[in-house]
Amino acid sequence: MNLREKILSVLTAARSGHVSGAHLASRFHVSRTAIWKYVRSLEQIGYIIEAVPSKGYRLLAAPDALALDELQGTPAGGVIGHTIRFLPAAVSTNTVAMEMADQGAAEGTVVLAEQQSGGKGRLGRSWISPPGNLYLSVVLRPPIPTHKAPLLTLLGAAALCAAVRRHLRLPAGIKWPNDILLNGRKVAGILTEMSAEPDRVRHVVLGIGVNANMDLSLLPPDIRDASTTLAAAFGRKIDRTALLKQLFAELAERYRRFLRDPAAVLTDWRDLNVTLGNEVRVQAPDGSFAGRAENIDDDGRLIIRLPQGSSRAVASGDVTLLKEAAGAPALFGRTRDRK
Ligand code: BTN
Repeated sequence: MNLREKILSVLTAARSGHVSGAHLASRFHVSRTAIWKYVRSLEQIGYIIEAVPSKGYRLLAAPDALALDELQGTPAGGVIGHTIRFLPAAVSTNTVAMEMADQGAAEGTVVLAEQQSGGKGRLGRSWISPPGNLYLSVVLRPPIPTHKAPLLTLLGAAALCAAVRRHLRLPAGIKWPNDILLNGRKVAGILTEMSAEPDRVRHVVLGIGVNANMDLSLLPPDIRDASTTLAAAFGRKIDRTALLKQLFAELAERYRRFLRDPAAVLTDWRDLNVTLGNEVRVQAPDGSFAGRAENIDDDGRLIIRLPQGSSRAVASGDVTLLKEAAGAPALFGRTRDRK
């Protein structure tokens, strides 16, 4: 337990009583100023703590809890979220959802966790998952060939981007294939896992991680500069339940459309992306190269025009935007008109 967690556990144990700064300082052998700083940092991650000069600190509320009763079976969510398995802590919601899908969980089942101890990111990376954010995995069972499965990742990115834009009116954009950026920094990511037969998808798990209300200082320094949170861009903590509701609705609508016309997701993704038209560096499995991101093909691969004039299709990898031709697409552009 680090010092901040120790202070929190003393405040929690005191229930509705005050604990003086002097008591905490002498108990943990630090100054009262240091205690005050830890208390501030607890407030930054959502704890509401009263400070009364003559009495000390009192814990009034823990970070906003997700209102599951408001989410479950939300009509606007359609097929998404009829069943929600909430876990206060999971190793990885994707792992739980894959196991549930293997055992027959229905399409649209959502696994939602308050925190993850082994959150998985793309390309074998880990996804830092403290409380206060959103970590969810959605089970889908589309009747599609395996090579079309990457389109579901694009669908997830478009739905999430649209939910952030509609609910918070923040200018989120998608960096290929599925990073959600705000002001050039990553705010959310998607990891799709699949179980398949040779030619057909059995089930797909769409894993979505959103940096919502966490304190950015919880991220390791090497990724902190390139990351942001919705709260940082919004100016105050966001209502995670309301954003989830919007996300379920955006996912459900796009998934319905996808089952009729898989290619529709490409148009949707293009409307919200901040990749196409830009000079990019691609870190592909076989090395890195630069070029101009020209388009995505019918299977969601990124088409790069190389300096020599030829083009190359990339199915997986990391993209860095080198020179942006334009910023994020205008809020509520063509996406809204189609609704
Ligand atoms: C990325 O690297 O950009 C993808 C990150 C995906 C993280 C989410 S959090 C919920 C789900 N469970 C996981 O273990 N990973 C995904």
